[in-house]
Amino acid sequence: MNGVPIPMALLAELTHRCPLKCPYCSNPLELTRRSNELSTAAWIDVFQQAAAMGVLHVHLSGGEPASRRDLEDLTEGARAAGLYTNLITSGVGLTRDRLKALADRGLDHVQLSVQGVDAETADRIGGFKGGFETKMRLAGWVAEEGLPLTVNAVMHRQNLDRLDETIGMAVRRGARRLEVANTQYHGWAYRNRFALMPTPDQVRRGGRIVAEARERLKGEMVIDYVTPDHLGTYPKPCMGGWARIGLCITPRGAVLPCHAAETITTLSFENVADRPLADIWANGPAFTAYRGTDWMPDPCRSCERKTRDWGGCRCQAFAWTGDAGQTDPVCSKSDRHADVRAAAVAEAQAGADAFDYRTF
Ligand code: SF4
Ligand code: FES
Repeated sequence: MNGVPIPMALLAELTHRCPLKCPYCSNPLELTRRSNELSTAAWIDVFQQAAAMGVLHVHLSGGEPASRRDLEDLTEGARAAGLYTNLITSGVGLTRDRLKALADRGLDHVQLSVQGVDAETADRIGGFKGGFETKMRLAGWVAEEGLPLTVNAVMHRQNLDRLDETIGMAVRRGARRLEVANTQYHGWAYRNRFALMPTPDQVRRGGRIVAEARERLKGEMVIDYVTPDHLGTYPKPCMGGWARIGLCITPRGAVLPCHAAETITTLSFENVADRPLADIWANGPAFTAYRGTDWMPDPCRSCERKTRDWGGCRCQAFAWTGDAGQTDPVCSKSDRHADVRAAAVAEAQAGADAFDYRTF
């Protein structure tokens, strides 16, 4: 693969099935049915191909990966291929015995999503009664198994005011890392942006709370936090640059440069059943479309940051401009920047709180 970067991480979306109904879900609006999911053998073949390409980590994700009865076999297959295995889970569907079996068969790490700091808030946001208690129980089992835990807290207008308590909860549950994941507005989240978009004040306060907590918790817990970019000056280097360090495979085997890439309806995506993974990564049209810097228009083309943020997010550019090849409009150098910022502020001020829950 001369001149083509080596991917480090694979996001394996094992299934779209999930008992929760989070309104910020980044899965596509049209979800894949169980009958169209890749088989156990097909996934294990994918893991072997990925390892041969140089991939180091696999994130076993969904939907809820525990909805697959063969999760234990898949974990073992990924580990046998030589991959570091991270389970991204809502916790629902994992029993004590199942977690032990996963650990015995090679699970390296657990990333637990949380929707809020108490049952009432969390269960309302996740659309699943009893979810909060289940998650807290799982965190205890993860500690008993001696597995490292990351808490993934997806934040938005309806829970950002409790960020301090969220950090406290992650510490009490023994997390080594907390991802304060500001909602990314793709898929269901884009549909729910009026109910989710944080106000500029909330974002400013959130940044201060994270800075203080990072200082206080040095050596105890790492906190990842990226300021929501529509309120910033420059975009984030989404995916670490398109087709540069990671790739995603959907439940039916479509190979994507980004988990939200199917929202870009002008691209088409190949399937692992039809072509070797390494070939899709190196030469697939969806991957070569925005890899590197040659595709960039101005202002990115002549910008000194172009190999720092890689022009931002292609999915965001498509959502706001209808052209994934445009500069990410959250960038202050984009002529759409003011519109995007004004729209985000208006969405936040609209104050809607009813969710359009993910349905399946
Ligand atoms: Fe990044 Fe392009 Fe904005 Fe420069 S102009 S900061 S490369 S998005
Ligand atoms: Fe797809 Fe940013 S979410 S490139």
